[in-house]
Amino acid sequence: MNGGGKTTPTNASSGTGTLANLLHEQRRFPPSSDFTAQANVTAEAYAQADADYQAFWDREAGRLAWAQQWTNVLDWSNPPFAKWFVGGKLNAAYNCLDRHVEAGRGDKVAYYFEGEGGDTRTITYAQLTDMVCQAANTLADLGVKAGDRVAIYMPMIPETVVAMLACARIGAPHTVVFGGFSADALRTRIHDCDARIVITADGGYRRGQPAGLKSAVDEALLDCPDVRSVLVVRRTGQDVAWEDGRDIWWHDSVEQASTHHHAEPFDAEHPLYVMYTSGTTGKPKGILHTTGGYLTGCAYTHWAVFDLKAETDVFWTAADIGWVTGHSYIVYGPLANGATSVLYEGTPDTPHQGRWWEIIDKYKVTLLYCAPTAIRTFMKWGAQIPDKYSLASLRLIGSVGEPINPAAYIWYRDTIGHGRTPVVDTWWQTETGSIVVSPLPGVTAGKPGAAMKALPGFRVDVVDDEGQPVPNGSGGYLVLTQPWPAMLRTIWGDDDRYVSTYWSRFPGLYFAGDGAKKDDDGDIWVLGRVDDVMNVSGHRLSTTEIESALVSHPIVAEAAVVGATDDMTGQAVVAFVILRSEAGDGGPDVVQQLRQHVAKEIGKMARPRQIMVVAELPKTRSGKIMRRLLKDVAENREIGDVTTLADSTVMELIRSSMPGME
Ligand code: WT7
Repeated sequence: MNGGGKTTPTNASSGTGTLANLLHEQRRFPPSSDFTAQANVTAEAYAQADADYQAFWDREAGRLAWAQQWTNVLDWSNPPFAKWFVGGKLNAAYNCLDRHVEAGRGDKVAYYFEGEGGDTRTITYAQLTDMVCQAANTLADLGVKAGDRVAIYMPMIPETVVAMLACARIGAPHTVVFGGFSADALRTRIHDCDARIVITADGGYRRGQPAGLKSAVDEALLDCPDVRSVLVVRRTGQDVAWEDGRDIWWHDSVEQASTHHHAEPFDAEHPLYVMYTSGTTGKPKGILHTTGGYLTGCAYTHWAVFDLKAETDVFWTAADIGWVTGHSYIVYGPLANGATSVLYEGTPDTPHQGRWWEIIDKYKVTLLYCAPTAIRTFMKWGAQIPDKYSLASLRLIGSVGEPINPAAYIWYRDTIGHGRTPVVDTWWQTETGSIVVSPLPGVTAGKPGAAMKALPGFRVDVVDDEGQPVPNGSGGYLVLTQPWPAMLRTIWGDDDRYVSTYWSRFPGLYFAGDGAKKDDDGDIWVLGRVDDVMNVSGHRLSTTEIESALVSHPIVAEAAVVGATDDMTGQAVVAFVILRSEAGDGGPDVVQQLRQHVAKEIGKMARPRQIMVVAELPKTRSGKIMRRLLKDVAENREIGDVTTLADSTVMELIRSSMPGME
């Protein structure tokens, strides 16, 4: 079979081909017989799980060490509020750390840390356990108790993992806020979950420069009187402001603390963390994950999808810990499985564009997991860059965050996987906690662009407006039709929003917010969001949230935001704004000023690629902005049906004010 060389098609066209045949990519890529022979999971797993999914998860939860056995796999008596492994007790940090040390694997490497500037640290399970015990003791000294929320705003360094696991160890749910979020966004999240402690660093390295984090925490805390302590890791050595009595250096506290700490077991449904994600309204949603089911889901999927061999694999999720991908597949999944991971602080092009491939070569990475936006960027930079390094250690490569276009899939498979490695295109969400739809690498014949089907233990479907399954060959909405262990339990502090957002569109079904189609074989192709949520470089952004940010600027009267297709980032933010009359034309730097304002309100990643100042916005007679038409403009397309517009001349007006348009 196709064990080596460049992509070996099993049907249809030959070679990597022209752009046209990539758009109509028909090839399938079954795993090599060698891969299949050694794979963790075989095709029988689907039937076994389908026969009784609760019995399946009952067995899979046995991957973890439980202090007390559960009495009931699933309590679904009050849907959509699930309880998994009812009555079971466990400690997440103990499962990720101590038990591996107790089993004699303390010297195994947990992380190869690679700083952006080339500084490195190798951290074993025994060392990581000690560090986490120290941090747990410090948090306890600071008065943190089980159930208290702790905010974490950190760069990609080992202490971030330590901070998360220390929280888990004492039962204090963490909320990690991605370091690219602004002080305002951090403050909103601290308020929403009422965190009393913040863990941060002076800064982190970004494109060769120290980028401040503590300064943003200081700014956020001007309006967070309830935060009593800030624990600060020294990473860059940059100057920081200091508030005595509140701010504490990590090296003066954690690193001086005892390495002994007893990990108390918590209920399976004890909150593990809250992760904020954008929804269709301006207010981010705090997605709540709990302990037993989440850890079971991460451990199983990490083992099954990546065919993990914990003894020999070197796993690398090239994502930030500040997103769910990092939580599940840098921290909880790999550690629960006792795996060795790479943790890389920086950007792919610092100090040079071969940085990732150099890291893979250096640590002999076997499993790589990253986002299509990165793959497309590497395509643009050219194959000559990865070709300079040995990628021979890679045996499986994965993709996550947005649909991977067939051209990028083929390039990834050929240029990075050398036509040898299975590619797993994994669909999931912050809410699902773990991967849901993905090929099984030893089983599935991959189709470029398709996420294929639900993993064993999960059940998904594509339904029409009435919630009825669509036939093969048709499109509709992606739903999960039965509960799964790592599912979100609620939106923090807002059960009603949990029910209305996910479980009301189609009663009894979990509505993911994505459009999808079933192909003629019944395989699933995820098409993208069907709501006002954009996906920019694999980051979820809300159109409404950016619109609110724009109108909070004093010169803006109205704003409409759309996600326009972008070759590199998947989608890009394009904003249309109407200025207040007293602002005139806003002056020469109006666009710059507004982009900066969005960065301040939300974060740099939310800055619009383009801002058009317009005189009118297209509205229906009932006053609803027709974003569909604005999208046509932003994507430079023929403008669609305008008959429902209150004033049909508006579109001509907007179009004529666009750069390069007549
Ligand atoms: C949204 C979830 C899951 C971790 C990263 C993003 C899109 C995710 C895929 C994929 C097509 C995908 C969906 C989903 N998405 N993976 N393999 N193919 N689309 O997590 O920020 O919660 O975003 O990302 O639209 O709903 P997130």
